[in-house]
Amino acid sequence: MLSDVELEIYRRAGKLVAEVREEVRKIVKPGEMLITIAETVEDLIRQKGARPAFPCNVSVNEVAAHYSPPATDESRVKEGDLVKVDIGAQIDGYIADTAVTVATGDDLEMVQAVERALEEAIKVIKPGIDVGDIGEAVEATALAAGFKPIRNLTGHALSRWTLHAGLTIPNVRGATGERLEVGDILALEPFITNGAGYVEDAPQAFIFRYVGDRPVRTRMARKMLFDIKRNYDSLPFAERWLAKGMSKLRLELTLRELINAGALYPYHVLKERAGGKVAQAEHTVIVTEQGCEVITR
Ligand code: CO
Repeated sequence: MLSDVELEIYRRAGKLVAEVREEVRKIVKPGEMLITIAETVEDLIRQKGARPAFPCNVSVNEVAAHYSPPATDESRVKEGDLVKVDIGAQIDGYIADTAVTVATGDDLEMVQAVERALEEAIKVIKPGIDVGDIGEAVEATALAAGFKPIRNLTGHALSRWTLHAGLTIPNVRGATGERLEVGDILALEPFITNGAGYVEDAPQAFIFRYVGDRPVRTRMARKMLFDIKRNYDSLPFAERWLAKGMSKLRLELTLRELINAGALYPYHVLKERAGGKVAQAEHTVIVTEQGCEVITR
């Protein structure tokens, strides 16, 4: 169970990311660089007294998640793009996670449907329900609007310093045997699409996480791993955050060495299998006796 002090920190982190999310709605427009969006989000989090819990994800159209622009990224939002911005902040390891999708073209219906799916999911939450009941609410809402939920993306439980704390929250129906308890902290994140309803790993990865110390050959890799462990612990970090003062080639070779040694886990960019567009909405909630408290409103 959470102490009152912990609950207050969660509420602070939640309010802060909600404010950042509302700023993001204004800055995502055609012509804006993806890297500017990501860096603005991360700077706002720091200005408000927290730290990013993970790199800001700016995932466009058929890219569902895990795109965080590398330092050399020059791409911009184009007219008609569907842009998902996923935002996480942590205060002393207590994490709040929220996301927004901005339609710059005619995908407003999909955005409204995913936001509705999130609200329906929030309504069913209370202690004792199977997490599959949340998936059922998401799936029914998506299908009623003419879209498909993404079956192989899920929400997740949060705990201190841990972004994926065991419990997963499906976006489709089906009993799992996993039941909610008072005090569970959940990042609810329905994803819906006009494509096939599945995502696949793309070859690229721009977000990584420390797994453990491993013997590595080069001094550069040893130093990088040491710094990663100290700065980010086991929370995800961006390639971009390491890029300062390093050539792109050297950075990529060093990361490759650490991944191959099993010291880092790469989060591959996730793309919709049929190339459909994807919309996402997300809130962090705390399960209460009566239902839940949404900390990212
Ligand atoms: Co998120």
